[in-house]
Amino acid sequence: MKFAVLGTGIMGRGWITQFAMNGHDVHCFDANTKGLTGVIPGCEKMAATAAKKFKNDDPDFIANTTSHITIHEDKDAFIAAVNDCDVFLEAIFEDLKLKCTVLADFMPQLSDKVVLWSNTSSLDIDPMADACGRPDRAIVTHGMNPVPLMPGVEVVPGAKTSAETVEFTRQTLLSMKKSPFLAPNIPGFWVNRLLMPQMLDAVRLLEQGKIKVEDGDIGLNTSLGHPQGTFKLHDFVTAPTMLRVALQMYQASNDPRLYPPLTLMRMVQNGEHGASTGKGFYDWSDPRNPKARDVSHYLVDNVDDMLEHIK
Ligand SMILES: NC(=O)c1ccc[n+]([C@@H]2O[C@H](COP(=O)([O-])OP(=O)(O)OC[C@H]3O[C@@H](n4cnc5c(N)ncnc54)[C@H](O)[C@@H]3O)[C@@H](O)[C@H]2O)c1
Repeated sequence: MKFAVLGTGIMGRGWITQFAMNGHDVHCFDANTKGLTGVIPGCEKMAATAAKKFKNDDPDFIANTTSHITIHEDKDAFIAAVNDCDVFLEAIFEDLKLKCTVLADFMPQLSDKVVLWSNTSSLDIDPMADACGRPDRAIVTHGMNPVPLMPGVEVVPGAKTSAETVEFTRQTLLSMKKSPFLAPNIPGFWVNRLLMPQMLDAVRLLEQGKIKVEDGDIGLNTSLGHPQGTFKLHDFVTAPTMLRVALQMYQASNDPRLYPPLTLMRMVQNGEHGASTGKGFYDWSDPRNPKARDVSHYLVDNVDDMLEHIK
């Protein structure tokens, strides 16, 4: 099969690796062409971790995986190469307006048979499906990070998604050893509808001084079996993605538990995005041994700022 991946950030790279390591050809493109140089090394790293986890000792596994990946710096060349692809997967920023605009641009340029998979983690598939002009062939496939290691894929059909598209999607995912499950088209679907309020509450409790970063993560890890706890998970998802998902879910639901805490907004403003930038709730200078940080200064700064204004 032939796959197209639009957006080569954390999730795009995960899907590129997933498709390529299953022997499928993948073409990818990103609006930020500077970031494209990191795609192959990023995919090599993920493939190596997957080989370790799944006990694959084929010495050619990584080279075989990357041999299926074609990176395009030119948008028109990308569109020409993927015109006859089986699946076009979008993994761009979590922003409904942006996704609709971009899909309305790309999808009409592709063959009618192409199926759209959106990796959105929370957004309504229906406007995206309409924007791409083939609502029967559009569906959410919300993969979990890191995609090659995490089997779960949330499959969310829209109002007009055909039964054929649902079945094609399920079968294609199963053929790649993923575990697809159907979820409702509500803000956050199933996984983030439950997870996001919890992760945002954790930050609010941290802000109130009720819990410390390390204790919070040890607690969830050792008591509920969450491998990363909550604050490490924040750092892997990245603060900008957490903020985008929270804001879009808040806008769609008006649920106050989804209103993002100030600490999260400040982390985004300060470029402290998590593991990818080296600092978040943890200091990632040594990625094997992250050290919890004291992030209370975000709130203290805020009080000082406010006092400054009433002097
Ligand atoms: N980070 C996670 O843990 C996670 C998990 C599941 C789902 N998701 C979802 O996956 C999607 C991508 O998230 P991510 O974490 O990979 O984000 P990211 O910021 O790592 O990557 C997004 C990429 O999209 C590119 N992009 C933005 N606008 C574009 C455009 N107009 N055309 C082409 N490329 C464009 C950016 O340059 C960037 O490389 C989002 O919908 C997010 O909600 C994220």
